[in-house]
Amino acid sequence: MSNALKEIQAPIADELVYFEKYFRSSMRSDVALLDRVTRYLIKRKGKQLRPMLVLFSANICGGINPSTYRGAALVELLHTASLVHDDVVDDSDERRGFFSINALWKNKISVLVGDFLLSRGMLMALEHNDDKLLRIVSEAVRLMSEGELLQMEKSRLLNIDEAVYIDIIRQKTASLMASCCATGAASASTDAELIERMRMFGEKMGLAFQIKDDLLDYGTDDIGKPLAIDIKERKMTLPLIHVLNKSSWRERRRLVNIVKNHNENKEKVAYLIAYVKDNGGITYSQKVMHEYIAEARELLDYFPDSPAKTSMLELMAYSIERKK
Ligand code: IPE
Ligand code: IPE
Ligand code: MG
Ligand code: MG
Repeated sequence: MSNALKEIQAPIADELVYFEKYFRSSMRSDVALLDRVTRYLIKRKGKQLRPMLVLFSANICGGINPSTYRGAALVELLHTASLVHDDVVDDSDERRGFFSINALWKNKISVLVGDFLLSRGMLMALEHNDDKLLRIVSEAVRLMSEGELLQMEKSRLLNIDEAVYIDIIRQKTASLMASCCATGAASASTDAELIERMRMFGEKMGLAFQIKDDLLDYGTDDIGKPLAIDIKERKMTLPLIHVLNKSSWRERRRLVNIVKNHNENKEKVAYLIAYVKDNGGITYSQKVMHEYIAEARELLDYFPDSPAKTSMLELMAYSIERKK
């Protein structure tokens, strides 16, 4: 784990250990094949930003309690399920620096493992009558599926503008981060305004987080997952959308043609990436990303200062400076 992340985690270090135990045990199964896959998933854990958001939000809104841990485990289960499914959808063979589940066990098993994780999360919350939590998170699950489908619809038609892009990432990514913050807040407080404010914070941060993810796809560094896979999957993200919007009719036709008909052609894709970089696509996306960060920061102003609030702001900064 990066040192930056370790430092940010300091105020909730013990709580994260407890969460982790909870998270692991929730994945266990008597079916040997399933257990093998979930063990693999546990070994290659991610940054765990979402459980951190749950814990920090609860901390800021009144304090962590047993239902907070269940919220944290639930969101990480859903997130893991969504990644396992997403790698099938995106036909991606690398995740967190290792082979993806579909690369090792094929699509059929990946789909079922994703479903298993999803159901484990939901059942865990049900067993403890965490109704509020379930409601908040189930909404995010619906939005995530709709977001990925909206993205597929648009990548088929290749007609996507900035507003649609924001809508897609709001649904597929920001909704879960919003629900992390709302869940944490709701586990600690009944103040509806407070919970809504936290939810909005998570949403803004989530939008910035996905723009960063899309920027990483344009880079050349090892990010633990394939590079330039978005173009390959005909996914138009903000850097390209911005450049398309300000290009001449002729250039636009050339770029769209690459995405549509030559997305497996290395040279043509390299040309497109260079064009996007040379024409301000990256710079513009960074600007939009920082605007969401500023909005998120403003939403947190409302809360009294505390070590948890400081760490949550640092976590947000980390989420757009990260290398993976
Ligand atoms: C990846 O999320 C999926 C997106 C929404 C972009 P993370 O980057 O948080 O994934 P892990 O859990 O740390 O691997
Ligand atoms: C986010 O989009 C996927 C989910 C919300 C599950 P991406 O497809 O860009 O995520 P990565 O890059 O594969 O992690
Ligand atoms: Mg993907
Ligand atoms: Mg991505």
